[in-house]
Amino acid sequence: MWQPELAHADGPIYERIAAALERDIRAGVLGSGTRLPTLKELAALLHVTPGTVNRAYELAQRRGLVQGEVGRGTYVRAEGLPDVAPSAPAAPASATLPESLNEWVDLTIVKPNLQLQEPYVRAALQDLSQSPILSEMLDYTPDGGHPLHRQAGAVWMQGAGLAARPEQVLLTAGAQHGLWVAVNALTRAGDLVLSESLCYPGVASVVHSLGRRLQGVAMDHEGMDPDSLRALCQRERPAMVICIATCQNPTTRVMSAARRARIAEIAREFDFILVDDDLYGFLAPQPMQPLASYAPERTLYLTSLSKSVFSTVRLGYLHCPPAWLAGLAASVRTSVWMVSPLAAQLATNLINSGKALELSNAQRAEAQVRQQMARELLGEFEYSALPTAFHIWLKLPPYWNSGDQFAAIARGHQLLVAGGDAFSMNRDGEGRQYVRIALMASSREQMRFVLTKLAGLLNMPDTRWL
Ligand SMILES: Cc1ncc(COP(=O)(O)O)c(C=O)c1O
Repeated sequence: MWQPELAHADGPIYERIAAALERDIRAGVLGSGTRLPTLKELAALLHVTPGTVNRAYELAQRRGLVQGEVGRGTYVRAEGLPDVAPSAPAAPASATLPESLNEWVDLTIVKPNLQLQEPYVRAALQDLSQSPILSEMLDYTPDGGHPLHRQAGAVWMQGAGLAARPEQVLLTAGAQHGLWVAVNALTRAGDLVLSESLCYPGVASVVHSLGRRLQGVAMDHEGMDPDSLRALCQRERPAMVICIATCQNPTTRVMSAARRARIAEIAREFDFILVDDDLYGFLAPQPMQPLASYAPERTLYLTSLSKSVFSTVRLGYLHCPPAWLAGLAASVRTSVWMVSPLAAQLATNLINSGKALELSNAQRAEAQVRQQMARELLGEFEYSALPTAFHIWLKLPPYWNSGDQFAAIARGHQLLVAGGDAFSMNRDGEGRQYVRIALMASSREQMRFVLTKLAGLLNMPDTRWL
């Protein structure tokens, strides 16, 4: 009888059984057509319930690994394995208790769904191991990255609507690194850097740690407000303005084309450098020209694969006017010497084969399902979102004192959400009454369970006494 090896894996047991099944099929331990143990047999062997084994078999079936025949058992699929996972299953109708009841669920990180990524990364790693240029990828690269990798970065940016040229592309170890490189190379200690008043805290950590001054610009329903930006520039010239024009983090706002043009106009008038952090550009409801394309001569366009493809490979790209390239490349060298060519080759394969785009589309589609789920379960609360955003920005009812207070209560229930105060760039409490909730964690089933639990907590301010 098949005995899955579960000892060295993390995660819920049913996922580990399904993963062991995939491993053994790929390794040829289980040939096509092999009959798997019955639910009862495997449950007894592993000391779990037959329901757990059933979930594992269902998951394997959805991944195209096995097929079940009523009354006859479960068999390894005869037609061979799919290259990538088929689209994820439909959400169950009600919130059932996930296997991982005793696990913490972390909704503080806006990230893509990991289950969708795995088969793509597995296949790309296999390709990489067979690649004729693998040995080249073991060597040091020229400044800015290997030409093939810069070329792939340009292709990726062109897909986002930027007229990118490979010779103006540099590789970074993700967008956070890109922000550091930009601020380090293009501004000086003491300079004023502006961002939206509610913004991704990584911006503040870069600006403050490099000894620059940060100020948040007031926002409206489209993100950074141009009149407030202009008024600030009249008081003091900023060296750099960092904007998240699409699916702004945390507010999910999107700048219209007119707004982008207006921000670019102000950049020219006051002669500052624009940074277009377009990590979430692929989540726009309709394709939009990136902010950078309105003032390419003074904008550093920043993106990474962390949200659309994979986060842990840590790969980002920046595009800038030619005059800035040497300084930016020197900052990459100072900070990490070079971005891993192995990681970059992995990304290049995925981009050039079209798989990266396919995966980012799958992530977008998954986000749409999660947003529908949030509407269904949290619809009574006030929050901003996009139909395809990976998170929501929720305003707490007035009986809550703050997002941090709610986050502490949720933590007591093993749920981690981000209190909104950390997003207040002016440290004025603008985000205090909010929480940011990421939606792409683990399975739909778990997400449904967690959102149901959050809705319950949100409606019970007295839970703090329980
Ligand atoms: C707006 C924004 N910029 C940059 C980053 C950093 O991304 P990366 O993981 O590519 O470093 C994030 C991460 O959440 C982000 O939200």
